[in-house]
Amino acid sequence: MPIEWAPSSWRQKTALQQPVYESEREMAEALNALASLPPLVTAWEIGTLKRQLAEAAAGRRFVLQGGDCAELFEDCESGSITNKLKILLQMSLVLTHGGRKPVVRIGRFAGQYAKPRSSDWETRNGTTLPPYRGDIVNQPGFSTEARRADPWRMVRGYERAAMTLNFLRAMARGGFADLHHPEYWDLDFVKHSPLAEEYSRIAAGIGDSLDFLESVLGVRAGEMEWVDFFTSHEGLLLPYEEAQTRLDPRSGLFYNFSTHFPWIGARTSHPGGAHVEYFRGIANPIGLKIGANVKPDEFRALIETLDPARDPGRLTILHRLGAGKISGSLPPLIREARAAGRTLTWICDPMHGNTRTTPDGIKTRSFDDILGELEQAFDIHRAEGGALNGVHIELTGENVTECTGGARGLTDADLARAYKSQVDPRLNYEQSLEIAMLLSRKMRAAG
Ligand code: PEP
Ligand code: CO
Repeated sequence: MPIEWAPSSWRQKTALQQPVYESEREMAEALNALASLPPLVTAWEIGTLKRQLAEAAAGRRFVLQGGDCAELFEDCESGSITNKLKILLQMSLVLTHGGRKPVVRIGRFAGQYAKPRSSDWETRNGTTLPPYRGDIVNQPGFSTEARRADPWRMVRGYERAAMTLNFLRAMARGGFADLHHPEYWDLDFVKHSPLAEEYSRIAAGIGDSLDFLESVLGVRAGEMEWVDFFTSHEGLLLPYEEAQTRLDPRSGLFYNFSTHFPWIGARTSHPGGAHVEYFRGIANPIGLKIGANVKPDEFRALIETLDPARDPGRLTILHRLGAGKISGSLPPLIREARAAGRTLTWICDPMHGNTRTTPDGIKTRSFDDILGELEQAFDIHRAEGGALNGVHIELTGENVTECTGGARGLTDADLARAYKSQVDPRLNYEQSLEIAMLLSRKMRAAG
C-alpha cells in the first residue's frame, strides 16, 4: 500500500471541479448512507479487467471503451441501456473481425454521472448560478433550486448505477449477446443505412467462422454465448468515490467498488492535486486522460506516481490530443513512458481534442477529425515500435445528430434536428459503427 495514503487523504490537497454543498450535516448523512451500501462490482472482476488490460498492452487484446459523455438518471431505462449494449457489441464484433484479437468492452456507464465544467458560474440575462455538474450533483434547468448541489443525488446516482448494472449483467449473460445470432442485434435503422451491406457481410463472416470452428472442434462454442462488459466512469466527485472505497480483506488492498475502471479527467490530472492523490492509492486499473497541454516532465511525474510498481494493466493512458496536434504531442509521451520503464495501455480518445462550436453556438465534432486522429494514433504507435491498444468513443445507440459527417454527410444545418446531449456531442449509432468499420479495415490492412 502506498505510504501515508487513506481513502480520505485527497482532502489534504486542492480538489478542482467539486460542487459547493450548503449543509455539512446533510452531506455527512448522505455519505454515511452511501458508505453503508454494498459494492457494485467485485475485486475478482476488477482483477480480471486488469489482466485483460495488461494483455491489451502486450498487443493480445484491443479495448473498446464507449458510452455517453454524461449519463442521465432518466437514461436508466431498458431501451437506452439495450441500445448502448447493442452498439458496443456490434462495434466489438467488427473490431474483432478486423484486428483478429479479442476485444475488451468497457462502457462509460453505470456511474458516468459527474461532469467537469469550464467555469464555476453560468450567467444568463444578468442572473448568475453554479453550472450544471451532472445528474449526480444537480439539474440542468436554469434556476436556483435546479442548480443547488444536493448530496442525496449521490445516493440516487449509486442506485441508478446499481439498477443499470443489474440489467446489464442479466442481458450479457442471458443470450442477448449470442454470437450465433448477430441478426438479433440489428437496430431498425441499420436496415436503411448506407453501411448495412458491409455490416451484414461482416456478421455473415462471423457466423461462417463459428460454423467452421464448431464443425472442426465438434463442440458448440459455448463460451461465446455470453460476453463481458466492464464499467467505467470519470472519478470526478471525490466524496462519492471515497464513500465507495473499501479494504478488500482477501488482498489487503483498497478498491473503488463503484466501478471496474475509474479514470482521471483532463481537467483534474495535476500531479499535486486531490484526484491524483486519491487515485494513487486504489488498486483498480485506472485511466488517465492526457491533453495536448501536458508537458513530458509532467507526464513523467504522473506515471511515476500512479504506477509506482511498474505493473502492466495498472495504468491506461487515454490520449485526447486533437487531430491537428497528435503528430507533435504523442511521440514524446510514448518515449517518456518507455524511458520511465512503464508498460502502459494506450487508448486513443479521438473525441475531446476535436470539439468545436458552430456559428450558431452548437458544440459539435466532425467525423473526419475523429477518424483522422484515430488513424494517426494507430500509425504513430506503430512507427514508435508499439501499438495502439484501444479506442475511447462518446456514442449513443440512438439516432441523434450531434456530430457532423459520416456516411450520411451530416452538416451543421442537420445538428438542430436531433441534438439531445446536455454536454458533449456523441457519435450516433451509424457513425459509431462506421468508425469501427474503418478502424477495423485499417487493422486488417496492417496485419
Ligand atoms: C469526458 O470524457 O467526457 C471528458 C470530460 O473528457 P476530458 O477529461 O478528456 O476532457
Ligand atoms: Co465528454
